[in-house]
Amino acid sequence: MFIVFEGIDGSGKSTLIKNIAEKLESVNEKVHITSEPTSFNVGKEIRTLLKSGSDSDASHRIMALLFAADRLNHIENDVFPAVKRGKIVLCDRYKLSSMAYQSVRNEMSWVESLNKFAVNPDLTFFISVSVDNALKRIDSRLETREIFEKRDFLEKIDANYDFLIKKYKREMSVEILDGNDSAEVIAEKAWFIIQKMI
Ligand code: ADP
Ligand code: TYD
Repeated sequence: MFIVFEGIDGSGKSTLIKNIAEKLESVNEKVHITSEPTSFNVGKEIRTLLKSGSDSDASHRIMALLFAADRLNHIENDVFPAVKRGKIVLCDRYKLSSMAYQSVRNEMSWVESLNKFAVNPDLTFFISVSVDNALKRIDSRLETREIFEKRDFLEKIDANYDFLIKKYKREMSVEILDGNDSAEVIAEKAWFIIQKMI
């Protein structure tokens, strides 16, 4: 089973993944936690570019291509092998992230076409949280804000997610979680949905 977690930066994805992994392990399921951008070479290059902050049209096109390439490599060399070994894969971000983020500065249809070879997940959790709340949480982490963590950018991404979730709800089995709930309540709600599938 391949489960994806989506949401704007600071929405609580990593926290939820950790909580769900504990619940799965408590019922003896084997879990593999992974994320995008990955720690493979393309993913490392993406992280470097995220910090460098270049804002040209070309750099936004290059980022969309790199994210799509990193994703195909991730599926082939990490996600599929783990699924084949019987693990439940919990993935922090996937193709909805590219469609939401890379479409701010590129045509959405182009970004969608770049990602059409990436297999659909069995289940996608979208954590819905206000931009204000997400920014407060990001600031409390005390790390430098990456280029996508600026308010106007997050607002555009939030609107893109809104549109995309309606469009891909069925195809990607999207379940929306209220990110303003406590981390424990969110995990209980997600766990209820996962239990019906395992
Ligand atoms: P993401 O992986 O989506 O960027 P994190 O899981 O790292 O988000 O959460 C960002 C910050 O918000 C962390 O400091 C985390 O402890 C906190 N946090 C996560 N979920 C909640 C929640 N439901 N309520 C309040 N704070 C939360
Ligand atoms: P990540 O490390 O998951 O950030 P966070 O933990 O704050 O959610 O992702 C790094 C950034 O990369 C994040 O701002 C979202 C962005 N991103 C894209 O723009 N496109 C993509 O396809 C993916 C996977 C991530």
